[in-house]
Amino acid sequence: MSFVGFIGLGLMGKPMATRLLKAGYCLVVHNRSPKPVEELVALGALPASSPREVAERSEFVITMLPDNPDVRSVIAGANGVIEGAREGTVVIDMSTVSPYLAQELNAMLAAKSVDFLDAPVSGSTMAAEAGTLTIMVGGRKEAYERALPLFRAMGDKIFYMGGPGMGAYTKLCNQIAVSLNLLAACEALLLAKKAGLDQQKVIEVLSTGAGSSWQLATLGPRMIKRDFRPGFKVQHLRKDLRIVREIAEHLGLPLPGVGLVAELIKSLEQRGHGADGTQSLITLLEELAGMG
Ligand SMILES: NC(=O)c1ccc[n+]([C@@H]2O[C@H](COP(=O)([O-])OP(=O)(O)OC[C@H]3O[C@@H](n4cnc5c(N)ncnc54)[C@H](OP(=O)(O)O)[C@@H]3O)[C@@H](O)[C@H]2O)c1
Repeated sequence: MSFVGFIGLGLMGKPMATRLLKAGYCLVVHNRSPKPVEELVALGALPASSPREVAERSEFVITMLPDNPDVRSVIAGANGVIEGAREGTVVIDMSTVSPYLAQELNAMLAAKSVDFLDAPVSGSTMAAEAGTLTIMVGGRKEAYERALPLFRAMGDKIFYMGGPGMGAYTKLCNQIAVSLNLLAACEALLLAKKAGLDQQKVIEVLSTGAGSSWQLATLGPRMIKRDFRPGFKVQHLRKDLRIVREIAEHLGLPLPGVGLVAELIKSLEQRGHGADGTQSLITLLEELAGMG
């Protein structure tokens, strides 16, 4: 079995790494804080003290990190993956980051004959645990084919989207749909409440028809129960929408819906909800409606 490195063991990274361990891969793990490393070592993983060491000991290196600067420093910074990777290593970034960064890292690594795949995921922490993530991949087709068994251990809907950056672009399209569906779910539940309807029943009814969405079906019940624990953090959605807007600006593409939801998510983060789940957007809309 191949040695696989995994860096970034947060809400998503830890269950994804656990799936690889359970599939029989020899896993070398690293994280900024030590606790998730200790938890994975207890399950049979090997600890590494730096991204460089992870790469020195692995044939594949996966990163699952918050934002552009984190991915850049872990892969291309001092003691980074690039310093330990050898010819033939495949570096796979599964974080949601800019396609421009993916293309830049691809070029840097290609100069060392190291492959890079941008392979962001869609699906919740529950999908990460169950190995049912959607994975959208950009990069060299041959590298994608080599990495496919790893993807199959973490997801069951795997798509090759094209050259470097194309997985990252696909994920940004996904985040547009995610954020606007989230806003729609919040507003539908607000009207339901104001009209005196049973909100849970409204979710059930809407979920059978043309207004159904994952956001409404999965996050709606949490909004009603006031369960704002994070599956997907507000600060990460804010980051995703920032990247969407940067890319749209560069492409000269007006995205008015994204502008609206991005400002609401920014406000929600400013109010101290950055580490809460995105379903907490309903609290901001309730306040705007005088229903807080
Ligand atoms: N959560 C979701 O539902 C979801 C779904 C799809 C995609 N995503 C995307 O996946 C990525 C990760 O999301 P997440 O929810 O797993 O985030 P998270 O819970 O914040 O986890 C991020 C992890 O990265 C670690 N980290 C940060 N900087 C590091 C560094 N320099 N070196 C080593 N480790 C570092 C953090 O360590 P600490 O323990 O020190 O904080 C943490 O364990 C994000 O880009 C997000 O947008 C998330």
